[in-house]
Order: sequence, then C-alpha cells, then structure tokens
Amino acid sequence: MKIAIIGGGGRVGSCAAYCLQLGKIARELVILDANQATAEGEALDLLHGSSYMADQIIRAGAYPDCADADIVLITAGLRRKPDESRLDLINRNVSLFREILKSLKAAGLKKDAIVFVVSNPVDILTQLAVDECGLPPSQVIGLGTVLDTSRFNSLIAAALKLPPTQVRALILGEHGDTMVPIWSSATVDGLPLLKVPGVTPTFQSQIFERTQKSGAEVISRKGGAGWAVGIAINEVIESIALDRRRILPISSLVNGPYGIRNLCISVPTIVGRKGVVSTLELELWPKELQGLQSSAKALGETLAKVRGK
Ligand code: 2OP
Repeated sequence: MKIAIIGGGGRVGSCAAYCLQLGKIARELVILDANQATAEGEALDLLHGSSYMADQIIRAGAYPDCADADIVLITAGLRRKPDESRLDLINRNVSLFREILKSLKAAGLKKDAIVFVVSNPVDILTQLAVDECGLPPSQVIGLGTVLDTSRFNSLIAAALKLPPTQVRALILGEHGDTMVPIWSSATVDGLPLLKVPGVTPTFQSQIFERTQKSGAEVISRKGGAGWAVGIAINEVIESIALDRRRILPISSLVNGPYGIRNLCISVPTIVGRKGVVSTLELELWPKELQGLQSSAKALGETLAKVRGK
C-alpha cells in the first residue's frame, strides 16, 4: 500500500509517518511538504531506521507521487493557537486547503484512492474535499473524533486505574467544541462503565471537559499534538489497508443517520479498503442525540459561510 502524506514535514504528518512505519503495513511512504528540505529530512530520518523496522520505501516526493497512491493523507495546515477554537482556524486554513486540493486534482488520483483529511477544522475541510476531489464520497474521509475518542478512553482509564485498551467510550459529532460524549454505550471489557465505582456525574463532566480541551492543553505545553494523532491516523489506515471494517468515529459525508443530512461529521462508521463501508445508527440517550444534532447544526452553519466564500 502506497501512502502519500501531504504536510509530512510537520509535527502531525511526521508522527503519522512514524506510526505507519512502526505499523509495518504500508509498503511505501512518500512525504510531501511545502518545505521540501523538511520533507527530505523527515523521510531520511525515517529511512535510517528502516533496517531494524520494516521493508518499506520511504522517501520525499511531490504531487505527481499522489497519482498512484492508495491513500493520500492531508495533515498540512496552520496550527490552532491555545485560545483559538478549531472553527476559528477555518479562514486561515480553507484557502491553503483549496490550493492543496487543486494540486491534488492536477496530479490525478487512482479511482480507488482514499483521501484522508486530518487538517483542521477537519469536518469542514473533509466536506470541501468531498466537494472537490472527484472521488465517491465514501472514499473521502476525515479523522473526525477518532483522536477525541482515544483521548476520552485514555483519560477515563488513567483516572479509574483501568487498562486503556479495554475502555470503550465514544465521542461523536464535530472534532471541536461541540463534540458529544456517548456514556450510554460506554464499557470496560464489555461491562457498563457507568457501574464502575467513581463514575459519578461530576467525574463524567470533568473527564469530558478535559477531553474537549485536550488539544489546547497539549498545544499550550508543547506547541501541538503529534503522537496520539499519529496513533489515531494509523488506527484508521490499518482498518483501510487490511479491510478490517472496524467501527471508528471518522468524519464522512453523513446522509440520514440521526437525522443528519449531507454533512461531514463523526458517527459510528465501518471503515474498510473502500473507505466508508456503512454507518451504524446506534441508539443514543435523548440528550446525546440532541447534542449530536446541535453539533451538526453548528457545523452546517459554518460550512454555509465557507461555501459562500
Ligand atoms: C488536536 O485535537 C490536532 O486537532 C488535533 O490536537
């Protein structure tokens, strides 16, 4: 599997490349960046470790290298300031993103390629990619709340001293301020999480609030997230590459589930080699459904402004 990473010279793109190298599934990793020297430096640094890691081709490249890529990962973008919401980023990133899409279209894409957006605001930019990539919507996806879900599970596990890989609690909706915690189906090794001692309403609101602010918390301390984003990206790409059909809250064009229409947002989604296999409209508590629909409304209003530009 050939994966091209647009923005691979940046923190998110290079962490994603490193996770994909450790994952050993990709046959070829091509690093693209506006700063060619950085792209070459990251590719070289990764290549130097390949003899102890995996038999992969790792190199810097340019847009023509996307023409036969199986997955085009887009991580390029300006980072959010600590006190800036992701949607505030939009004006700064939309014009950059449109340039990327133009170059991508000029290079051409395989008809079964997957375009995988990570740049923020990811739901809005995923929708622009759906509009402009010329691929079936099911082949254009965004990281959505996959990272938020990992943060949520990891923070819950750390607070309750549980094994993080056994905590399963979804975050749905916008990858942003209006994201929604789904406690109704939260489990630890299949057991109801809400029954675990210490999971009080106060605990729930504190953990969710910390999850919501995790991006800004990391940005204020180290300038921007990288490692967990890379792991989240690798989780999605493994489900694509191996056609694992895992249920992941990626952002994709949703038409119908939860009453949401024609909008890129995160709902439970089965992810396989063709991208979106299907979505699962699992029953939610009324307040969770209301939160998801409010999130969709907020995203829809922002999208209308962006499209109007
Ligand atoms: C975050 O939440 C990069 O949007 C990503 O840290």
